[in-house]
Amino acid sequence: MRIVDTPAWQALSAHADTTRDHHLRDLFAAAPERFQRFSLRWEGLLFDYSKQRVDATTMHLLRELAQVADIEGWKHRMVAGELLNHTEGRAVRHMDLRAGEQAPAEVKRVLERMRLFCEAIHSGAWRGYSGERITHVVNIGIGGSDLGPRMATRALIAHHQPDIEVHFVANIDGADIAPLLGRLNPRSTLFIVASKTFSTLETLTNARTARDWLLAAAGSEKAVGRHFVALSTDLDLTGRFGIPADNVFEFWDWVGGRFSLWSAIGLSLALAVGWHNFERLLAGAKAMDNHFLESPAEENLPLTLALLSLWNTDFLGASTAAVLPYAQSFQLLPAYLQQLEMESNGKQTDRQGQPIGISTSPIIWGEAGTNGQHSFFQLFHQGGRIIPCDFIVLRESDYPLPRHHDSLLANCFAQSAALAFGQTREEAIAAGTPSELLPYKIFPGNQPSSTLLLPNLTPYTLGQLIALFEHKTFCLGALWNINAFDQWGVELGKQLASQLTPLLESGGDASQFDSSTRGLIAAARGV
Ligand code: F6P
Repeated sequence: MRIVDTPAWQALSAHADTTRDHHLRDLFAAAPERFQRFSLRWEGLLFDYSKQRVDATTMHLLRELAQVADIEGWKHRMVAGELLNHTEGRAVRHMDLRAGEQAPAEVKRVLERMRLFCEAIHSGAWRGYSGERITHVVNIGIGGSDLGPRMATRALIAHHQPDIEVHFVANIDGADIAPLLGRLNPRSTLFIVASKTFSTLETLTNARTARDWLLAAAGSEKAVGRHFVALSTDLDLTGRFGIPADNVFEFWDWVGGRFSLWSAIGLSLALAVGWHNFERLLAGAKAMDNHFLESPAEENLPLTLALLSLWNTDFLGASTAAVLPYAQSFQLLPAYLQQLEMESNGKQTDRQGQPIGISTSPIIWGEAGTNGQHSFFQLFHQGGRIIPCDFIVLRESDYPLPRHHDSLLANCFAQSAALAFGQTREEAIAAGTPSELLPYKIFPGNQPSSTLLLPNLTPYTLGQLIALFEHKTFCLGALWNINAFDQWGVELGKQLASQLTPLLESGGDASQFDSSTRGLIAAARGV
């Protein structure tokens, strides 16, 4: 039975019809203990969802829906290694990558090789073709082979190793790699070619450019072995590219690209922050895995995040969700979560191949606070749309300068309060607003938000946070009956691009394309 046809869904629908317009102002007034009731604490982390537009019945009905969707069963099937990614015939085992002592032997073997490699780079035992130490590392990858390590490397800036700088190149636009190469020295630069399939156009194009650049300086193919390593599941293709087998760090088809940070794909991050810190990241994620697998629904953080997202999307009609980290180090978190959530659950076909017929993944977007306040928050406050917000904030700053952190926290908490409670006409009058400005000083409020307060930003807490969102995504996939682990939707554009490239390079018969595409090709070619 489709989830929308279940009594649990219909009960939620009926409940939404009678509560949809309840205002957070009234919900708080009616229950002064609302914060205690609608917040969760786990390992020093606080999740406050009291400013979501829910009451006890909403949460009860949502948890019943989770039971009907058999989230527990899906968890077990994932852990058991069943082929949850049925359209590609693959298991979903990213938790095995961070299972510590319980990890499979193949995982332990690659982690050990990564550790030794990090040690060799950091100690200077690994040298470039001319005998110089490696001081710059460039990760060449895109999507899941870029966003995770890039985001985490940025997030853990306070934990970086000295004497080594890690860069990321993703875009096929030469404007990404060219200026970087212009600043680097081939004798002391290491390239990590990160690609699960080792067939991604952007990555291979950038990798070839990097290799040409190296060879122009080194003059011998032998240099490739000192300056290129690969992270991939396809050892045949890495070999054909010319990367020696000893320089290839393997992972497996049961690691989805957007869940791959914990695999060899994390090598650039490990080089940036050191092996010990990478292990702490894995440990944090493992702690979240245990919490997710073992905690009851009422205390389960990933499940609660997922249920709130579903409520906002399918019952309150929100089409987007803002991620608002009040932590500059989390600058890239919105981009990372865009791929994680939207590539996983941005689908309209269920596991039986039938149309889902309800909204699935909201459009994820966001920006670090306080910057966003000075650009798009105006629309949150008075734009008339419902935009659920996830505030993410650190109790202790990773850069504790005097004056900064309390103001940052104050701004975060002020925004969630202003968004929830708004300002009524009476309040605006009481605040002395001149009558001609009154219409402009009314804030409707009732904008739902959650606030996730982390104790601090360390590799361990970052691991917890990322795993939290991974499991949230997993739960949403199960609730919507989606295969969250494939991404067929990205293929059509790739196929078309491969047909258009020769036409742009050297012209030719474009008559099978529409007039807009033909016109754009002609204009780009200047004909
Ligand atoms: O185009 C989408 C995608 O397949 C993502 O799912 C993936 O993370 C990215 O491309 C990169 O793929 P690869 O790691 O195989 O280069």
